[in-house]
Amino acid sequence: MSDSRLFHPVRLGDRHIENRIVLPPLTRSRATSDGSATELMREYYAQRSGAGLIIAEGTVVTPQASAYANVPGLFTDEQINAWRPVVEASKRVGNAVYCQLWHVGRQSHSSVQPDGLPPQAPSPVAIKGFSYRSPEGRIPYETPRELTTDQIKEIVQAFGTAAANAAKAGFDGVELHGANGYLIEQFLDDGINFRTDEYGGSLENRMRFLFEVLDAVTEQLPANKVGIRFSPSSDWMDAIDSDKRTLFSTVIRRLNNYSLAYLHLVEPGIAGSTNAAKSDDSIPTKELAAHFDGTVIVTGGHDKESAEELIKSGVADLVGFGRLFISNPDLPERFRLNAPLAELNSHGLYGGTERGYTDYPRLDSRFL
Ligand code: PHB
Repeated sequence: MSDSRLFHPVRLGDRHIENRIVLPPLTRSRATSDGSATELMREYYAQRSGAGLIIAEGTVVTPQASAYANVPGLFTDEQINAWRPVVEASKRVGNAVYCQLWHVGRQSHSSVQPDGLPPQAPSPVAIKGFSYRSPEGRIPYETPRELTTDQIKEIVQAFGTAAANAAKAGFDGVELHGANGYLIEQFLDDGINFRTDEYGGSLENRMRFLFEVLDAVTEQLPANKVGIRFSPSSDWMDAIDSDKRTLFSTVIRRLNNYSLAYLHLVEPGIAGSTNAAKSDDSIPTKELAAHFDGTVIVTGGHDKESAEELIKSGVADLVGFGRLFISNPDLPERFRLNAPLAELNSHGLYGGTERGYTDYPRLDSRFL
């Protein structure tokens, strides 16, 4: 066994996995226009199956839940069937393959909504200070439509159905996307949720959607096959709250009632998919992780050395490497051998062909 802590086996929910290296969820936009996974995606995930845990990219739970073209879904039989060979090719003895369940709320745009109308969100407030990535370039976000109570309940059920569908597709579990100012966080944050019904106002009310989703999902899957992700120190996409420390420490402590597979925290200093300046009021990951009784995954800007330090200091049990895993399909092998790492190429990050997706080579035979 390697002396690196990244290669010490660990229990994750109902499985034992052989390393602590995580492929975190990464939107790559290679699904078909109707949200079905593709042969190219099968190759991409199979190339990265050395990860102890693969968390497949954000996968939408309803036709309204997506912000972009070519994002996969898990709400039709075709989508379930299309994921199956991808999941199968990603699995090996000693790893686990999860799917991230996603609803973007107000981060969507009328141009990708099935009815051509603006997207729906807890409150009719547009995202300020950021712009939407349209095929023609950056454009302003629209004012979303306010979700009705019935529509909220339908979305809660859709998360449950998508979790059941993930199991049908062969996934070992699911991760709820509670990070980066998407729908779950849009309910949590008091600077963007102005509802006056039972889903807005007090912290108790703002947490209601998240815990209803969690209840719906854990009705379909055992809780030890369910993880959740937050980015507590990020205000990317205008995710504004007056007291994120109280918000996330309260949410995380309540998650202890569920015996989940894991809590996944994005480090301060990460804005969606890129680095940002760390703000003075960022909350140390160590502090938040300490509230959680179970397995903790930490992602955001880490390299092998800093990841080992995180594990050694007890902050994280596993560490995610997003950008490094894009350009190094055999990242665990490179870490094990202390081999050089390939640089990320900005071409092909979102959509397109195999270029910038499956064409990053494995390690040169000189190092084997
Ligand atoms: C992105 O498409 O850039 C993206 C998607 C999901 C995230 C963050 C960024 O959570």
